[in-house]
This record gives sequence, structure tokens and C-alpha cells, in this order.
Amino acid sequence: MPGGAATARSEISRVDESDVRRAYRRWAPVYNFIFGPLTYAGRRAAVKCVNARAGRVLEAGVGTGIALGLYAPHLRIVGFDLSADMLDQARRTVAEKKLDHVEALHEMDAADLDFPDASFDTVVAMYVLTTVPEPERVMDELERVCRPGGEIVLVNHFSAERGPRAAIERMLARYASRLGWRPEFPVSIAIDRPGLEGVERRAIAPFGVFTLLRLRRRGQA
Ligand SMILES: C[S@@+](CC[C@H](N)C(=O)[O-])C[C@H]1O[C@@H](n2cnc3c(N)ncnc32)[C@H](O)[C@@H]1O
Repeated sequence: MPGGAATARSEISRVDESDVRRAYRRWAPVYNFIFGPLTYAGRRAAVKCVNARAGRVLEAGVGTGIALGLYAPHLRIVGFDLSADMLDQARRTVAEKKLDHVEALHEMDAADLDFPDASFDTVVAMYVLTTVPEPERVMDELERVCRPGGEIVLVNHFSAERGPRAAIERMLARYASRLGWRPEFPVSIAIDRPGLEGVERRAIAPFGVFTLLRLRRRGQA
């Protein structure tokens, strides 16, 4: 077939904004209960890195606000998400737990952020990149709003290059729009960027399915 595998692969992996909103409308009421335990180790590791820093933090794809209570009180946290249903849960969490260090929660698309350049000292995105429709554009935006010398902390599932996990991910890729995330997702999208330098890359226990990445924005601090 002309155009072959590359075309077919990008088509089966596509997730669009309505898929995301629809998927997270369903997940919002039960997200913490179902996904909380599975994703806890990565979230705890990422928040520990963020808490060691100072200043303003942007949490991209803040979801139900499951991490908001874990941030140290010396930080000012701004969160955003595409899903109004997930944000409703996050706003409830902020009110119930009286989280005064949460400055604002916005409904916003990670591929088109309404923040000036270099607005944040730290940008964190946990389990988000595989769910966004345009991950390269999202990385551009996260880099733009992070100040030079600031850090981007990511926790994500990145594709296995070979072996049984790679085969399963290829098989699941056709269900990406129904799942609301991409089983196949190369790490190069996050790390092959001239404006960012790698600080740390760590597999998250127990199975190493998720990876923590710390990237520093190049330039004069
Ligand atoms: C798997 S959940 C992760 C939520 C949270 N970060 C956590 O640690 O559990 C992915 C979140 O990313 C959000 N999301 C997906 N695409 C987005 C986009 N383009 N802009 C903003 N948020 C997006 C979803 O609505 C969802 O809340």
C-alpha cells in the first residue's frame, strides 16, 4: 500500500480534544479511586522534585487535583486541564482541603496556553503527554512558559522499543481514541529538544512502566 505503515500508525494513534473530554467526563467521578493507586509512585516522585524547588509551579493536566494536596506550602500552584469535569473535582478538592497554595485552576488547552513566556519556575505534567492530541505542540508550550533555568518535570508512559511490551502497545494503539491516551509514545517527543537539557531520567517502581524525566530549560536564568 502506498504511504504504508507510517500513515497507518499515525492514524490509529490519533486522539482529539473531544475524545479527551468524553473520556475524562466518564473517568472524573472514579479517577482517583481507579487510577490513584496505580499512579501514586510516579506522582509522589515528581512532586518530591517539585517541592525541592521554589517559586511558581504550573501543573499541566491537573485532572481531579489528586496531587494538589502533596505540594509544599512554600510553592504557588497554578493548574489547568482541558476537561471541565476533571476540574470540577479539582476545585472541590481545593475547597474541601483548604489548599491556600493553589493560586488558580483554569480550563485550558495545553497546546495553546494563555500564559506569558517564562511565567513559571517549574512546570510539571504527570500522566498527561500520552493523552494530549498534539504532544509536540504541548512540549513547545510547556517549554515556552517555563523560565530559562527552570525545570520541566514529566511522568509518563513511554513506548518500549522491543519485546512483549512493545507488541502489546502496538496492538492497543488502535484503541487510542476510545482509551483517551496513546499506548505507543516515543520518549524522543520529550527529550529531543534543543531548548531543553536532560537532568534526570528514572524508571518508576515497581514495573518501570512509567518514567520520570527532569528537563532544564536552557538559557540565562
Ligand atoms: C491521565 S489524566 C492525569 C491527571 C493528573 N495529572 C494525575 O496525575 O493523575 C490526564 C489529564 O490530562 C488532561 N488533558 C488531556 N489533554 C489535554 C490538553 N490538551 N490540555 C489540557 N489537559 C489535557 C485530561 O483531561 C486529564 O485530566
